[in-house]
Amino acid sequence: MNKNDLLFYNEYEKFYKMAEKSAVFEEFCRTACGEDLSQDGFGDMRQIDRILNLLSREKKSEILDVGCGNGKLLGYIKSKREVNIHGFDFSENAIEHARKNVEGNFRVCTVDEADYPESIFDMVISMDSIYFAKDMGEFAGRVKKWLKTGGVFFIGYTEGDIVPFGNGAENSLAARALRGCGIKYDIEDITRETYELLRRKRECAEALRGDFEAEGDMEWYHMIMGQTECAASGYEDFAGKMARFIFIGRK
Ligand SMILES: C[S@@+](CC[C@H](N)C(=O)[O-])C[C@H]1O[C@@H](n2cnc3c(N)ncnc32)[C@H](O)[C@@H]1O
Repeated sequence: MNKNDLLFYNEYEKFYKMAEKSAVFEEFCRTACGEDLSQDGFGDMRQIDRILNLLSREKKSEILDVGCGNGKLLGYIKSKREVNIHGFDFSENAIEHARKNVEGNFRVCTVDEADYPESIFDMVISMDSIYFAKDMGEFAGRVKKWLKTGGVFFIGYTEGDIVPFGNGAENSLAARALRGCGIKYDIEDITRETYELLRRKRECAEALRGDFEAEGDMEWYHMIMGQTECAASGYEDFAGKMARFIFIGRK
């Protein structure tokens, strides 16, 4: 397999190189999302609090982050709960930084290649990464195998960006993938709070425009403005072309 053929491979290598050294991007993540976890997507601290609420406060949990980037999300969870952390990502730069940023078990591999022993995880997190599976149903089946009985599959999922806007959460590719392999799930529609997050991202990027310019990182300012263009007008308009759901699946 030639990695250069994979969707956004070169873009993510470049992104994680920038994320490791850019003080402005760090400040942007902190102001827009509540904490610098090198967010590239639709996740913020409100969503991560939902993950924390699902993790035991008493016993140690084994958790896996799919598309873990530079490991900062896992590092944050580790600072709040008793966990052993595992993560994989196809970006070599991301995993090199993850290994420096936090103690855990990190691998360079694609979503389609990833494999782990049966019944070892209490939670598998996929924050904006399930879209990269060639076959979401097959991938959900593998995740089910890795989860202990009662384990949680947490999915942050946006429609209208990488996957097309559809006909509601129950008809989404993610819901069908979960049903297909017999994982029961609850859904939370967080489209409204995502609209607010994207507007905040625009405002924060705009406020930091001069700093992006001074750092010579205007490419990333433009990337953020492009990514959040969908939230430039009113909520009705946004909700007509984009939706975000959290799926909490249980084995
Ligand atoms: C939208 S970002 C989300 C990153 C992070 N989870 C977050 O919420 O900010 C997608 C992540 O998945 C990784 N990724 C993309 N395609 C992949 C693939 N085919 N296999 C493994 N990782 C992939 C990217 O490098 C990136 O870290």
